[in-house]
Amino acid sequence: MFTMNKNIVCIGAGYIGGPTMAVIAKMNPDRKVYVCDINAQRIAAWNSKDYELPIFEPGLVDVVKEVRGKNLFFTTDIRSAVRKCDIVFVGVNTPTKMFGRGAGRASDLQFWEATAREIKEWAKGDKIVVEKSTLPVRTAAAMEAILNGGTGNGERGKQFRFTVLSNPEFLAEGTAIKDLLDPDRVLIGGPDTPEGREAVGEICDIYAGKDGRWVDRAKILTTNVWSAELTKLAANAFLAQRVSSINAIAGLCEATGADVDEVARVIGADRRIGPKFLKAGPGFGGSCFKKDVLNLVYLCESFGLHTAAEYWSGVIKMNDHQQERIVSRLFKEMFNTLANKKIAMFGFAFKADTGDTRETPAGYVARLLNEEHVRLSITDPKAIENGRRDLAGLDGVTWEKDPYKAAKDADAVLLMTDWKEYPALDWARIFKSMRKPALVFDTRNCLDAASLRETGFKVLNIGK
Ligand code: NAD
Ligand code: UGA
Repeated sequence: MFTMNKNIVCIGAGYIGGPTMAVIAKMNPDRKVYVCDINAQRIAAWNSKDYELPIFEPGLVDVVKEVRGKNLFFTTDIRSAVRKCDIVFVGVNTPTKMFGRGAGRASDLQFWEATAREIKEWAKGDKIVVEKSTLPVRTAAAMEAILNGGTGNGERGKQFRFTVLSNPEFLAEGTAIKDLLDPDRVLIGGPDTPEGREAVGEICDIYAGKDGRWVDRAKILTTNVWSAELTKLAANAFLAQRVSSINAIAGLCEATGADVDEVARVIGADRRIGPKFLKAGPGFGGSCFKKDVLNLVYLCESFGLHTAAEYWSGVIKMNDHQQERIVSRLFKEMFNTLANKKIAMFGFAFKADTGDTRETPAGYVARLLNEEHVRLSITDPKAIENGRRDLAGLDGVTWEKDPYKAAKDADAVLLMTDWKEYPALDWARIFKSMRKPALVFDTRNCLDAASLRETGFKVLNIGK
């Protein structure tokens, strides 16, 4: 195809671009890796002297310390980074489109398309362009058309060749570094042409790492581009569907005296099902599950597969219902009036070990409680800054670093995130400081309910 310089640039320095490229740089010390963003503040944080990185992720600081300035560089100068590198990953955001056709379901591809046009404008040679963002099936065809269409884009009208591949990312937040270092699989989709196969080989080499020290070649799976794009949406839909399935059973457990954790333990012992993603709770949050399932629904509808669309819509419907159910149960338990009561919300991040609050169930529940005129005091070890921004303008919400202060004079503690700090708190001290009757609603089933009851609390759980 062409002689490659092996250097890598990633456009988009967010939750995906930052950690993924840091680990690629660590495992490929012979390659230069550039991570770019239009958000100068974000790049400054990635470059900050004291490693105040823009995202919290266990183990990330250590990797960045090891490679930053050696073979990993964060920059806003996208043009020169694209010129220096023959391999271009694109990890920009692809949120749900909130306007026009497909509003509320389709992916908003404007950031992706803008990036493709920039790559085309700045390229001074052939490139492999890799979709790292999660995208609807057949986006690569549109990208190919933009990148390879039109008249010559290079010097003296020479047409450069862009080969578009799909390399979706499967890491989960909170375990990103672990997932990257030891993935279940890496997926690379490419066209079945000589250039396509060669480009796929180049990306396989990156994941194999220098001297084959990273991902076992047997775990690097290759497919056609459309399968790769669709696999990412399908994988997230399957995971989200498991969470909605167990939450659908949780309601039935509450009504019948069954215990959802016991049911999940036994279901999960069947090796055909497996134990993961069977934890009942407040419903899934995070930037991707809802967005990707909605995108799958939109794709099904676009292809006239209405029953399939309805099936996947049910996963989202069940998730929304779970959060509404939390508020209904609180309402019923607190004598059918929540107005002016103080509720201490423990945890605002969408899961433990992250400061990310995108689509967090806690945000949705906080808004529902706000409609009931609850006085909310919210605490979280890592997500206060993001939470404050999410709920800006909502009256009656205060933020408290210290969970003991958040719970003082409260009528109820509503635990929304299973931070490991929470079971270790002095719950007798919390009980003493609260208004009575004191209620704990543990939506993650992570506290010792028997001991809380002994202390004097009224305890609610999910699915029991
Ligand atoms: P993010 O919002 O944290 O980061 C995206 C970054 O892209 C932002 O910093 C934004 O400023 C930048 N950007 C947008 N347009 C740009 C442009 N034209 N030039 C340069 N930079 C630009 O989003 P994220 O969570 O990293 O997700 C990115 C993609 O990865 C999404 O498609 C998402 O579905 C996918 N993904 C995310 C995760 C995750 O754990 N967050 C996991 C798997 C896949
Ligand atoms: C998820 C997938 O797990 C990743 O493979 C994928 O790459 C990523 O989405 C993405 O595309 O962005 P993430 O959202 O970071 O990762 O975190 P998960 O661990 O999947 O949790 C998602 C939500 O489901 C959280 O709110 C979590 O609390 C909830 N969950 C998860 C449950 O309620 N029960 C479970 O058993 C598991």
